[in-house]
Amino acid sequence: MRPSPRILMCPPDYYGIEYEINPWMSRSRGSHGDVARQQWQKLHDTLTDLGVQIERLAPVRGLPDLVFTANAGLVYRDRFFSSRFRYPERARESPINEAWFAAHGFRIEQFPEGCYHEGAGDALFCGENLFAGYRIRSDVRGHQWLGEQIGKRVLPLELVNPYFYHLDTCFCPLAPGEAIWYPPAFDEYGRRVIESHIPRLIAANQVEAKRFACNAVVVGRHVITNTGCPDLADQLRRWGYTPHAVELDEFLKAGGSAKCLTLRLDGEEAAIW
Ligand code: ARG
Repeated sequence: MRPSPRILMCPPDYYGIEYEINPWMSRSRGSHGDVARQQWQKLHDTLTDLGVQIERLAPVRGLPDLVFTANAGLVYRDRFFSSRFRYPERARESPINEAWFAAHGFRIEQFPEGCYHEGAGDALFCGENLFAGYRIRSDVRGHQWLGEQIGKRVLPLELVNPYFYHLDTCFCPLAPGEAIWYPPAFDEYGRRVIESHIPRLIAANQVEAKRFACNAVVVGRHVITNTGCPDLADQLRRWGYTPHAVELDEFLKAGGSAKCLTLRLDGEEAAIW
């Protein structure tokens, strides 16, 4: 029997909009603590109902974005490549993440000085390839360095729309050769790279992309997204997936949704390691 999938999450006890580092964030639109907690809990429970084992990172006061564990780093087998965050506000999360991973048997790896890299937010496996978003947060050199370390081919994709500032906001591998994406978030070259390497693609429409349709958590044939993505859900059903909608509006205020709130510890569904 396949071992149950393992996902790292961090409860939103100290979540909030305390600074502005992407166009979704505005300190004048703060989050509602109780609602955020309920929404997070619903995502947590949806995942545990699907057989996922949730690991918890303890929240830390003063680190409102620690909830977005996708950005902690990139996990490859027993190696944890700790993010080198572009903004100092988030760089303070790194020691917390590293302590957790070290305590849970991972080898901690550091990106070279000056190479920004925001972990699984910007680097997603689909089959044998590592799709790598760069320019807004991560640097292309960071991705290349990572590819050399793990012996995988890296396909860099320039992100051109500030609203889709991490790759996981506009691209979601479902299985080897299958993904969800939002084409306008890429330049022409990036679109060609995706189209030529992934034969089956679902394009999210603009309205649903802005509801973070592409920021999905994939567990086997189950796909969890924010609410308000009915076209995506129809398309997923046609392909034999079961969509699940969990309202995550409180996290949209920080520019995050389902996928950002999770970090898969045992390899994403679409990854061939
Ligand atoms: N406020 C956070 C930031 O801008 C949101 C991160 C969302 N995470 C993600 N993987 N897209 O860094």
